[in-house]
Amino acid sequence: MISPDLPAALKAALEERMHGRSRRDAGQRAGRISATYRGGGNSATITSEADAVAYATVRMPATYAAVAASLNALMQASPDFAPASLLDVGAGPGTASFAATEAFSSLASFNAIDANPALRMLALALADETMRLRDLAYTLGPARVQLDRAGSADLVIASYMIGELTDSERSAVVDALWAKADDTLLIVEPGTPAGYQRIIAARDRLIAAGAHVAAPCPHAAACPLIAPDWCHFVQRLARSRAHRELKGADVPFEDEKFSFIALARAPVTRRPAARVLAPPLLNKVAVTAKLCEADGVARTIDIPRRNKPAFAAARRWDWGDGVEPPGS
Ligand SMILES: C[S@@+](CC[C@H](N)C(=O)[O-])C[C@H]1O[C@@H](n2cnc3c(N)ncnc32)[C@H](O)[C@@H]1O
Repeated sequence: MISPDLPAALKAALEERMHGRSRRDAGQRAGRISATYRGGGNSATITSEADAVAYATVRMPATYAAVAASLNALMQASPDFAPASLLDVGAGPGTASFAATEAFSSLASFNAIDANPALRMLALALADETMRLRDLAYTLGPARVQLDRAGSADLVIASYMIGELTDSERSAVVDALWAKADDTLLIVEPGTPAGYQRIIAARDRLIAAGAHVAAPCPHAAACPLIAPDWCHFVQRLARSRAHRELKGADVPFEDEKFSFIALARAPVTRRPAARVLAPPLLNKVAVTAKLCEADGVARTIDIPRRNKPAFAAARRWDWGDGVEPPGS
């Protein structure tokens, strides 16, 4: 399991790049970039080093936390997975690459693709200063074109990226991401109904192409959730002082909602029997938990206190956990 919080060296390198900059100016830049995202816009609005640093200060900790949680679920399902090579597509400031190198000490080759020059420069600077991501090869250009030229990798990640593509472009990029994955592809999106829809579309498309689900689903059947319900998880993360200042936020933490899918070339070895889909409720008589189960059905179950071992296990369950419900 890796921590959802940025590694100390990365946090320090990011804070160092904020040093000497006006918090007010950075806050305004971050606010403008967030407003663009909320309005359906994309990262093209990040055009300078000052924009990239402001964006990374505000968003990189949260997207890192979402990728870390997704990688933790992948590692639980595939404990023997030891990728040697990574391809991070729509890498931005290198968020997913930094998380992957924490998760897999086996990684020795890091390749990244992004169309944004300012975010690429920031990623290279952070990689250099933290001495992580040895020999990061970071290609500038549109994913669709660059993926055709890229080599394959054991692990391919697209984090908070496919939502910036048009519908037709997205299908082609999802196919190309899978084509470059020698072992596993991880796609992470915001935990909104629209982000979930993109995850499910990619899941359905790639299962039809022969992919095996590693996480979060304990099955490869159609997603059992029916709108307005949607599959998403929440990762809590610490907020740095710089982050609080830029966001004008008081609380020392934030909760990042995300949806994800990890798909593998071969069936995974330890896919859990169920995934917890919401915060479980604990009262005097039972734990009540909403689960997605291996038979492809989502159901809410009660684990009564009188069933002592099962209750003891279930009272520790948390939203997003892969679990073994009683009788599974
Ligand atoms: C929201 S940022 C996420 C960055 C990073 N993956 C993360 O999780 O923090 C989306 C990234 O995707 C990149 N991107 C969007 N469309 C792209 C495309 N067609 N080709 C390459 N990169 C693209 C953007 O430039 C931006 O860096």
